[in-house]
Amino acid sequence: MKGIILAGGKGTRLRPLTYTGAKQLVPVANKPVLFYAIEDLVDAGITEIGIVVPADFPMGREQIMSAVGDGSRWGASVTYIEQDAPRGLAHAVGICEPFVGTDKFVVFLGDNFIREGIADQARTFRDGTMNTILLLHKVPNPQGLGVAVVEHGRVVELQEKPAVPKSDLAIVGIYFLDYHFFEAARGLKPSARGELEITDALSRLIETGKDVRPEMITGYWIDTGKHIDMLDANRLVLDTVETRIDGEVDSTSQVTGRVIIEYGASVVRSVIRGPAIIGADAIITDTFIGPFTAIGDGCRITSSEISHSIVLDHARIEHIEERIEDSLIGRHAELRRASSKPRGHKFLLGDYSSLELQ
Ligand code: G1P
Repeated sequence: MKGIILAGGKGTRLRPLTYTGAKQLVPVANKPVLFYAIEDLVDAGITEIGIVVPADFPMGREQIMSAVGDGSRWGASVTYIEQDAPRGLAHAVGICEPFVGTDKFVVFLGDNFIREGIADQARTFRDGTMNTILLLHKVPNPQGLGVAVVEHGRVVELQEKPAVPKSDLAIVGIYFLDYHFFEAARGLKPSARGELEITDALSRLIETGKDVRPEMITGYWIDTGKHIDMLDANRLVLDTVETRIDGEVDSTSQVTGRVIIEYGASVVRSVIRGPAIIGADAIITDTFIGPFTAIGDGCRITSSEISHSIVLDHARIEHIEERIEDSLIGRHAELRRASSKPRGHKFLLGDYSSLELQ
């Protein structure tokens, strides 16, 4: 069985971070969200992995290729497949046909994040005779997602972002498929948003009598497309970390709860209340780092308070005494209190930045 990770898309909902980086590389607990998908595939015994990257977003493509490399770090072999433009998920999967051949395969949307991995479903699919397994998750408001109708252990109908959902079973962005999918995807017409929808291809499988089975996911599932979802994923992963202190913590600092402090990091006269992670070479001075916070490599945080946040590599935060909360702060961003007069807020914010002041 082969694996495909779809890592196209421009990540418009995560602007401005995605002007300078691929959305799949935004870190969750200091690890790019894409790496969790690779790990889930490898843990399920799937090591031949194709990653679809965007040809029309060279910066994102190059970043993904240099972060993942040839996959040998995970014991996997990674092939990159370029999609010329964002023409929809069914198109992205369709261009993988030469890579997949007639093998069974699993498609993982690069920004989907689940807790329990996919090893059990991969085993069921490998050993079974069904054509497709769709992972489903009960959600209260599935209007913004794909929705499945299940009868007698089969998926009998699908809807894409329906105004009036026929069930509360959302389609998770992880699909177990066989070569029939490629036949179904050929000849699809673009949807109202101008894309070849994966749900339309899956509907064709159902219409042509293929065996499409549901598998329920009960642990958490997050589509990390928006900043608040990234913070949720960060919280859930940090909640599972084990304490490891490889950096320096001075005697006047307090570290409580489960905390990772990476090599080269130093914590001076500060309080770190886990779960939290402090990246390599970060310097934390006279600061409170509260629960569910991930501080990236090389950050400098001085005389500030921060919790429930993700701070990317090399950001600087100085003398911000009001608690920073629920924030996603980009690489090399600088936040500081100025001492010069006249007093007032001074901003240099990129397009689509968002700032909330109390
Ligand atoms: C896509 C699929 C949708 C699925 C979702 C999961 O939506 O079209 O059926 O439920 O992924 O993340 P998109 O994120 O492209 O809007």
